Amino acid sequence: MAESLTGHARRLAGKPVRELFAANPNRFKHFSREFDGLLFDFSRERLDVEALAVLLLEAEQAQLRARIEAMFDGGIVNVSERRQALHTLLRAPAGAAVPPRLVPLEGAVRAMRARCAAFVRNIHTAKRRSRTGARFTDVVNIGIGGSDLGPAMAVAALRPYHTGHVRCHFVSNVDGTQFTDLVGDLDPARTLFIVCSKTFTTPETLANARRARAWVVEKLGEAAVRAHFAAVSTNAAAMDEFDVAADARFEMWDWVGGRYSLWSAVGLVIELAIGTQNFEALLAGANAMDEHFRHAEPHENLPVLAGLLAHWNRNVQGCASHAVLPYTQRLARLPAYLQQLEMESLGKSVTQGGEEVIGDTGAVIFGEPASNAQHSFFQLLHQGTAHVSADLLLPLGGAADAAADELVIANCLAQAQALMAGHESGDPHRCHAGSRPVSLVVFPRLDPAMLGRLVAFYEHRVFVQSVLWDVNPFDQWGVELGKKLCGALLPLAGKTPPAELSGLAGWIARHR
Ligand code: F6P
Repeated sequence: MAESLTGHARRLAGKPVRELFAANPNRFKHFSREFDGLLFDFSRERLDVEALAVLLLEAEQAQLRARIEAMFDGGIVNVSERRQALHTLLRAPAGAAVPPRLVPLEGAVRAMRARCAAFVRNIHTAKRRSRTGARFTDVVNIGIGGSDLGPAMAVAALRPYHTGHVRCHFVSNVDGTQFTDLVGDLDPARTLFIVCSKTFTTPETLANARRARAWVVEKLGEAAVRAHFAAVSTNAAAMDEFDVAADARFEMWDWVGGRYSLWSAVGLVIELAIGTQNFEALLAGANAMDEHFRHAEPHENLPVLAGLLAHWNRNVQGCASHAVLPYTQRLARLPAYLQQLEMESLGKSVTQGGEEVIGDTGAVIFGEPASNAQHSFFQLLHQGTAHVSADLLLPLGGAADAAADELVIANCLAQAQALMAGHESGDPHRCHAGSRPVSLVVFPRLDPAMLGRLVAFYEHRVFVQSVLWDVNPFDQWGVELGKKLCGALLPLAGKTPPAELSGLAGWIARHR
């Protein structure tokens, strides 16, 4: 971290942010940027022009521009797995100029898009039907992590854009209760399953896929499997084994990370919910943010500024947690989605070169729809001793009616003001210190294109932090050990667990 950055932090430490506002009436102008209707207002952060200049210098010293280019150009940016990270290629428009080495990949993306669109059309028009001849009314996406969270978030967020041809559902939890509760309300003759797994080896997903297969076989017979299952994976052999019909298989590639994959065939369930035209708008929105990220000057660049600010709050202001607080129920799954995106990407303690990272990396991400959170954990944001930074996300015109919209806007602005300005009182219980790090992300309407911009904004914000810390945002070795140990413990009967587990395992065995 540049020494002068800590110097600026010290200089600003004693200054309430409301005084920064008093000293600079143009703070909103200086510390907010808009791209394509998406406003990022970071004027309430404890930051001034001088500190921002040093942050921008850090980005330059970390060669951020070159690192961004390397990602878009298909360089091996996922070093520990020797892979490219080309989620941006998934949303590049047809005919976009791509480097020669990416031309074959671009062709494969186009082919995948065409196959997904045809599949969706056939389901929507009932050209593709159930084994019984019935039209499909319900689609169940079976996946976990990146094969669940992005699609589930987007399907909920874009509810007003659902075509109404099918209802979409999600099953991820290995314990089977989610599956059992869901299928209790479904008609097997009208239900299509998508087994969504990049690897097709994830035990949770395979357990649920087997449950679904058994349910279909029990109700409709073995021959129904080919009609009632589609799959998205890189693993053709496993899809063979599951007996997924050739025209219901959708390809994935190792150059798309799970948590960056909603733009690929992993988004098939989104496309089934909102239709191809809206799905294309989602991709176009993300692509617009990509172009902005790639070409806008750093001081005008929303994801660059947001990433620098995340670094400032994490490493300089000492915020170990970051809250994501959408002022709409439709984005209820966004915090969960961003938990994976940020924490799986930035929860690292070695550099790209394998050295120990100096200083802190990814913050703990948490959140809830803000309206509800105001009445649960906002107390800690206002008066707690923990340092927590927060994003308030405010869609305009997204509420059920104009009166609700007013309430939403007023609530959001009031919280932003309270967190920043605080409140003085003779009674210490009623004092708010203020100057709590809070930014606003405001947008006119949560339509597919805006959701695309918003998600790409957060993806690139993660990338910027990874460059500043020199960590790999595209691997996730940390989750592998638990998987391996779980595999070794199964089946429980007859296994001798490691000595450290034997007391607990014995207790569990006696109480099962
Ligand atoms: O366990 C973590 C993880 O590997 C995530 O990175 C990934 O999104 C998820 O599991 C699901 O993986 P898959 O799509 O291969 O089933």
